Amino acid sequence: MDRIRIVGGRHLNGTIPISGAKNATLPLMIAGLLTDQTVILDNVPRLADVGLLQRILGNHGVDIMVGGKRPGDTEYKGQTLHISAANIVDTTAPYELVSKMRASFWVIAPLVARMGQAKVSMPGGCAIGTRPVDLLLMVLERLGAAIDIDGGYVIARAPRGLKGGEIVFPKVTVGGTHTALMAAALADGTTVIENAAREPEIVDVADCLNKMGAKISGAGTSRILVKGVAKLGGARHSVLPDRIETGTYAMAVAMTGGDVTLEGARPELLQAALDVLTRAGADVAATNTGIRIARNGAGIAPVEVVTDPFPGFPTDLQAQLMALMTRAKGTSRITETIFENRFMHVQELVRLGAHIHLDGETATIEGVDKLKGAPVMATDLRASVSLVIAALAAEGETMVNRVYHLDRGFERLEDKLVACGAEIARISG
Ligand code: EPU
Repeated sequence: MDRIRIVGGRHLNGTIPISGAKNATLPLMIAGLLTDQTVILDNVPRLADVGLLQRILGNHGVDIMVGGKRPGDTEYKGQTLHISAANIVDTTAPYELVSKMRASFWVIAPLVARMGQAKVSMPGGCAIGTRPVDLLLMVLERLGAAIDIDGGYVIARAPRGLKGGEIVFPKVTVGGTHTALMAAALADGTTVIENAAREPEIVDVADCLNKMGAKISGAGTSRILVKGVAKLGGARHSVLPDRIETGTYAMAVAMTGGDVTLEGARPELLQAALDVLTRAGADVAATNTGIRIARNGAGIAPVEVVTDPFPGFPTDLQAQLMALMTRAKGTSRITETIFENRFMHVQELVRLGAHIHLDGETATIEGVDKLKGAPVMATDLRASVSLVIAALAAEGETMVNRVYHLDRGFERLEDKLVACGAEIARISG
């Protein structure tokens, strides 16, 4: 199993290209199931999760051709996927595959919308909490599907197609909103989605669905209207930049000090996080090519932050912010409101010398003068990368184990950091 070795203490200076967003790519690939024509996705990041979803979709009979570099492309250009679901050969998504990646449960919506039936394994627990799928099933039921649960599988049936309806989410859910958009796109009649997630990835998926012929308005607000159409066609769409990757590197620069341009990043995708970084003492500026982030001389100021659905501070940056606050000059408080168990990084940060006290959903972090390298590991993607951030500022060597978590969501993490002066390397085996 690969590990990552980091020797802390170097400032980061230079340019980091931001990849396409994982959390837009996955639902966009799944949306390819809605049509028998080809959907072409550009700016797709090279991530383990993308490869895994390729396998899962392949199991349904979807052909995915991965485009290579084209003349004039830079080394950092994302991949191009040609997704063709001309023949869906199987509407079952088995446990062995769904249990490896929760988002693959979302195939249930396009399968039932287009094929009238789907049998998809319940995803099961995961490292950041229980993460139920009740609201996703509520969506399908509201649109007329019959739902049965049998042997760990959800069986959804709508032999005469889905019907538009009113969906009111009792809490904001990204996966629920993706499910609603995909199911309603092919339903007969109009669907209104109330209390919809407003995440930029929802907007990106809605844009692509509209290019495919869907009639969706209001994406990005909490009320989305979908006028169902009988058929969707092919489209070409470029995945939006990854706001969580952007925020992660921004936190890393704030942690180590230095001056880095995050190329291709869009500030409006993570304004809440950039505001927190400014409060913490970093200089943040929008440039023609992306976002410039710098911290020179000044220390890190403590902050109080509560995670919230977009446009609030994202739960997917909570662990990274906590790593940064371990070195703040004073006491910070971070409250996690989205996932009840998303504090797996706390004990590992403590191993590096952090002072963190957990009380329910709130972590209190007493900033320390220095962290010290140690072997660490984490059980999810964002927790793992928070350890990388801490290690970049820790004295001596840190070995981050279980690197496969990082590979799920960060494209060429070590290369991007090395290019800015970090001492970080992957050790195979
Ligand atoms: N929830 C329910 N019932 C449901 C669905 C969700 O109670 O049927 C709850 C969840 O347990 C959670 C809250 O609603 O407490 C919000 O969950 P949401 O559905 O929004 O999360 P998700 O769609 O499963 C996506 C991202 C996560 C990100 C969350 C929140 C993808 C592939 N995943 O998950 O990303 O943390 O939204 O923004 O888009 C990551 O990338 O590391 C990651 C975990």
